[in-house]
Amino acid sequence: MAVPRENADDDVKYYKREFWSKENLKFTTPHYRLRKSAGVINKIAGDRPCDLLDVGCGPAALKDLLRENISYFGIDIAIHEHAPNLIESDFVKSPISFNGKKFDIIVAQGVFEYTGKFQEQKFAEINDLLKEHGRFVTTYVNFNHRARSIYWPYSNVQPLGDFRDSLGRIFTIEKYFPTSHNWQHSEPGRPLIQALQVPIRVPLLSHYLAVEYFFICSRGPRRSGQREPQVQHLPKWAGRAPRAHVSAGRHRRPRGHPGPSRRAPEVGPGTRR
Ligand SMILES: C[S@@+](CC[C@H](N)C(=O)[O-])C[C@H]1O[C@@H](n2cnc3c(N)ncnc32)[C@H](O)[C@@H]1O
Repeated sequence: MAVPRENADDDVKYYKREFWSKENLKFTTPHYRLRKSAGVINKIAGDRPCDLLDVGCGPAALKDLLRENISYFGIDIAIHEHAPNLIESDFVKSPISFNGKKFDIIVAQGVFEYTGKFQEQKFAEINDLLKEHGRFVTTYVNFNHRARSIYWPYSNVQPLGDFRDSLGRIFTIEKYFPTSHNWQHSEPGRPLIQALQVPIRVPLLSHYLAVEYFFICSRGPRRSGQREPQVQHLPKWAGRAPRAHVSAGRHRRPRGHPGPSRRAPEVGPGTRR
């Protein structure tokens, strides 16, 4: 049984290579979510050459589902077949990075349920690795589901809204949508059931039945190496109380930047994905 997030900081258990080297082999055959994310990523990439980083890549099953113009790189605590495009690294111990490389697309699916108290720090590290117009695609389990099936290795359990708000503090969330709706809180397995899944958020129903959510984000203004915003104090003779002068950090938005979006548009009928 997982510990609720607010109490998790001290008690949380992070599973290590020994566990994941067996467990992540379950993800060798592309599952419903993986194929869904491949579709989302292929659409984002279009025809242009792209570098993609898969954080928590497991057996790197995503690679074979991507278009040829996407160069695939992966990081995981348990890599099975070592290759120049794969790095074995524990993100609890080390920052997420790939030899100083920057990426057009970064994906982390089925990963943030295991980041414990490091969630927002990992968001910031990923934000730093994105190229200027890069995109971050991530998934998160819907813990508001009627049957909150808690997988015991989870170290980061929270309501979906909390996850979304935290993500929105680092990135600009462009949209988010449920992967599928299922009474049992499991990924749809049978082809017919998969075919019935529609990319919409159904009022009330999604809250109780959406299995997990996809989030598509663009790079946020905050860089993890930057200092917090500075308040410039004017001398008393300058008159009125000074307004905060933001020299760096999350409050400064680049020209034309829509700013952090806590209420990102969700995919609905007529919204193309
Ligand atoms: C649920 S699996 C998802 C695998 C893959 N992303 C997919 O969707 O098929 C979680 C992945 O995160 C990796 N992982 C867990 N903890 C990690 C850590 N501390 N550092 C790096 N990778 C980790 C696991 O090895 C595993 O491959």
